[in-house]
Amino acid sequence: MTPATPPGTSTVKKAVIPAAGLGTRFLPATKAQPKEMLPIIDRPAIQYVVEEAVRAGIDDILIITGRGKRSLEDHFDRNFELEYFLAQKGKDDDLTEIRDLAEMADIHYVRQGEPLGLGHAVGVARKHVGDNPFVVMLGDDIMDEQSTVLDGMIGVYEQRGRSSVALKEFPIEEISSYGCARPEPVDDDDGLVRILDLVEKPRPEVAPSNLAVMGRYVFTPAIFDCLDRVAPGVGGEIQLTDAIALLLAEEDVYGYVFDEGRYDIGQKLDYLRATVELAVDRDDLGAEFRAFLAEFVQRRGIG
Ligand code: G1P
Repeated sequence: MTPATPPGTSTVKKAVIPAAGLGTRFLPATKAQPKEMLPIIDRPAIQYVVEEAVRAGIDDILIITGRGKRSLEDHFDRNFELEYFLAQKGKDDDLTEIRDLAEMADIHYVRQGEPLGLGHAVGVARKHVGDNPFVVMLGDDIMDEQSTVLDGMIGVYEQRGRSSVALKEFPIEEISSYGCARPEPVDDDDGLVRILDLVEKPRPEVAPSNLAVMGRYVFTPAIFDCLDRVAPGVGGEIQLTDAIALLLAEEDVYGYVFDEGRYDIGQKLDYLRATVELAVDRDDLGAEFRAFLAEFVQRRGIG
């Protein structure tokens, strides 16, 4: 497995987080609030993604927003009224936490304008990213705090100067929900594959493998020309997957295969799993919550 780059030494400093989607899988909760603001325990989902980026040494984050997403900007901004209130009440821990949130990274926003697909959303970041390598993080995919996937992928860029995509094995009957890769082993690295082809949401019968694209990508800036050239794909949308398929005809693109610690919070069951697993690991809640779970399982005769 490619070693992670020591913190603070990476040249990958920018992340793009597409957050313009409508969140229809979580209606009615997302009727009047962005899906990225749905809480997992006491933090909105997008905060987990931003914290993961910061842990990986990213200090410049561009969030691609759309209509109805203003609360995202408020969340990462200062709130002087609240800070004053907390200070008056002597709630120093809360005050620090709220302030830190606004100082975690430089967070910028740009609107997608038209909902033309994930690839189009990433293309909107071109001006901001410029001629730099960058990370794309999808907000539906939450990684637990111990995850080293992003560090590992940035390490691949540092060593090989190439793009990479996070991949995870799935049962073949679920592959049509994801981008899917045709891999080739890389001799000196068993966690890494070279991607020979990438297909968005294939039917299981024609899927090139059971390796599904997860929502973490590291790109060289060459992806932007590919995004400009790519034709609309599945659902009539500009697909990021199709642009990567163009990129890999020009330069190597790697797949970073991992297994543990990812939740798709766009799915209700995985959202619940994320809430439970992350709560169990929390210093402030874990012990009591574990005791509750054990008692609950016994009381209901589960398992
Ligand atoms: C998107 C990508 C897909 C990827 C998935 C990961 O699909 O298009 O390639 O596998 O995210 O979560 P979406 O979930 O937006 O339909």
